[in-house]
Amino acid sequence: MHTLKRTLTDFIGAELATLTGLDEVNPNVITASKPEFGDYQANGVMGLAKRLGRNPRELGTELLARLNAAANPLVSHYELAGPGFINIHLAGDALRDRANQLLVEPSLLVLPTESPQTIVVDYSSPNLAKEMHVGHLRGTIIGDSIARILERQGNRVIRQNHVGDWGTQFGMLITFMRESSAEAGMALADLEGFYRAAKQRFDADSEFADRARESVVKLQGGDPEYLEAWQAFISTSLTHCQAVYDKLNVTLSMTDLKAESFYNPQLEGVVMRLENTGLLKDSDGARCVFLDEFVGKDGEPLPVIIQKTDGGYLYATTDLAAVDYRCHELKADRALYVVDARQSLHFQQVFAVATAAGFSNEAISLEHISYGTMMGSDGKPFKTRSGDVVKLVDLLDEAVTRAFDLVSSKNPDLEETERRHIAQAVGIAAVKYADLSKNRTSDYLFDWSSMLSFEGNTAPYLMYAYARIKTLLAKQAVDTDGNIRFPESVALAPEEKALLLKSLQLAETIDAVAQDCFPNTLSNYLYELSASFMRFYEACPIQGTDAATRANRLSLCILASEALKQGLDLLGIETLERM
Ligand code: ARG
Repeated sequence: MHTLKRTLTDFIGAELATLTGLDEVNPNVITASKPEFGDYQANGVMGLAKRLGRNPRELGTELLARLNAAANPLVSHYELAGPGFINIHLAGDALRDRANQLLVEPSLLVLPTESPQTIVVDYSSPNLAKEMHVGHLRGTIIGDSIARILERQGNRVIRQNHVGDWGTQFGMLITFMRESSAEAGMALADLEGFYRAAKQRFDADSEFADRARESVVKLQGGDPEYLEAWQAFISTSLTHCQAVYDKLNVTLSMTDLKAESFYNPQLEGVVMRLENTGLLKDSDGARCVFLDEFVGKDGEPLPVIIQKTDGGYLYATTDLAAVDYRCHELKADRALYVVDARQSLHFQQVFAVATAAGFSNEAISLEHISYGTMMGSDGKPFKTRSGDVVKLVDLLDEAVTRAFDLVSSKNPDLEETERRHIAQAVGIAAVKYADLSKNRTSDYLFDWSSMLSFEGNTAPYLMYAYARIKTLLAKQAVDTDGNIRFPESVALAPEEKALLLKSLQLAETIDAVAQDCFPNTLSNYLYELSASFMRFYEACPIQGTDAATRANRLSLCILASEALKQGLDLLGIETLERM
C-alpha cells in the first residue's frame, strides 16, 4: 500500500510521462487548497507545458482524456480548472475499502518506508557542567519527535546524545569538588548552585583558577584520581538529565549517550588527517582551516579553529571526529543535528571541512535541523523574574501544577488521584505541544495561558477531542478491536467523507515530516483532524440511526481516534481515555 498522495502522484506521473514522451515528470500533486477544487489537485501541467513550449490548457485536456480512459478506482472524477490545474475527486468506495483494511491493521495508518535508512539523530546534547535549563527544551522535544517518526517508518534510528562532558569547566568543577569534599555530595543535588559557587571561586581566587587549569591537564592526561572525580560528577549530572527525560516522556536513555569525551582519543588523528590533506594553516599559533566559502563581513577569511596554541582541541574538532564516526563507523545515510540556530555557522563549517577532508562522503547527508530561541512574554529569551535561567525540572513541575489547577477547576468532582494523573499528562503535553505546533525555525514565545487552553491548536484541545471519542465509543459499548467495519451500502455525507479522507492522510503527513523534519506539519494535521471530527460529530448523530449508518459512523470514530492517538504518540504526547 502507498499513501493516497503517492498513489496519485505515481499514476498521474506515469500518464503524463507517456503523453509527453518524457522519462520522469512530477505531476506535483498536493491536497486541494479549497474544498471546491476536490480532494487533491495536480499542478504540474503548467510548468511542463512551459518547458515543452505547449499551451497548458491543451496539454491539460489531453492528460484529462488519458486519465479518464485509465479509470483509476481511487478516483471518482477529474476536472480541468484555470490555466491547467487538474482537480481530483476521490471515490468514497475506494477510501472505505482502504479504511476497512486499516481497521483490521491500525498500524498501517503510518506506512513503512520502502527504502529504510540508517539515520543518526543528534539531539538534546546538553552540557553536563550545569543542569538542563529551558534552552534545552526545544531541541529535546523536537529531536525526540523526529526520532520517533523516522523509527516508526522502519528506519534504523541511532539516537546520539552528544553531551558536553569535557573541557576547562570540568577542571574547575572537580577541583572545587575535591577541595570542598564535605559538602560536595550534597551540593551536587543542586548542580546549578554548585556550578555557580565553583565559578565564583574560580573568578575570585587566581590560585584556585591555576589549580583548576592544572586539573584539566591531569584529567585529559588520564590521571586516575581526577578521572574518578570527573566520573562521579558526570554521573550525577546524567542522573539529573535522565530524570528530565523521564518526566518529559522523551525516549532518550543512557544507552544513547555518545559524550564529547568519547571522541577524545580521535582528536590527534583528526589534526593529522587535516595536516595530510594540506588544509591546516597556522594562524597566531592556533591551527586552523580556512575555506573560501567562509568570509567575514570585511571579506577576510574566517578560520575554523582546530587546535589552540596550548594544544587544546575545540568544539569543532570533536564534531569532525563525530562526523567521521557517524559516516564511517555507524554508516549512516543521514545524520540530523537538532541544534539551536545560533550554531548554524558552526555546522556549515564542520560539514564543509568534513567534506573537504574526507571525514564524510557522498553516502551521507549531513543536516542541521535548526530551531529558534524560546522567548518570555517580554520578548526576550525566557528567564526567571530575577533574570536567572530557568531549570527545566522546575518548568515541568510548574506545568503539572498549573494543569492540576486547571483540571480541578473544570472537574472538581473527580477523585484527586485521577485529577493528578490527568494533570501530569496534560501539563507535560501542553509544554511539548506548544513547541511542536510552531515552525521550529522561528523564535517561539512561551506562554502558559495559551498552551493550557482547551480552545485552539493546543494539547488540551486535542487530548480532550481524543477522550471525547473514546467516551462516546465506550457509551455505545463498542469493542474497538471488534468487527465494526464500514458497510458498503451507505452513501457518505460530506462531513463523513472529509473525516474519512483526513484520517487516511496521516501516512502522507508522516512522510512529509520524515523528509524535512518539521513536526508542526503533524501538529497542524492533528488539529485539522480534530476539527474535522467535531464537524462530523455535530452533523452526524449515531443514536437513533439504522444499523448500517451506525456502523459507518462508529467505524469513522474508531479510525479517527486511532489516527489521533498514533499521531500524538509520534509527537511524544500521551493520550488519556477519559478526561
Ligand atoms: N553541547 C552542545 C551545546 O550545549 C550541543 C551539542 C550539539 N551536537 C553537536 N554534535 N555539536 O551547545
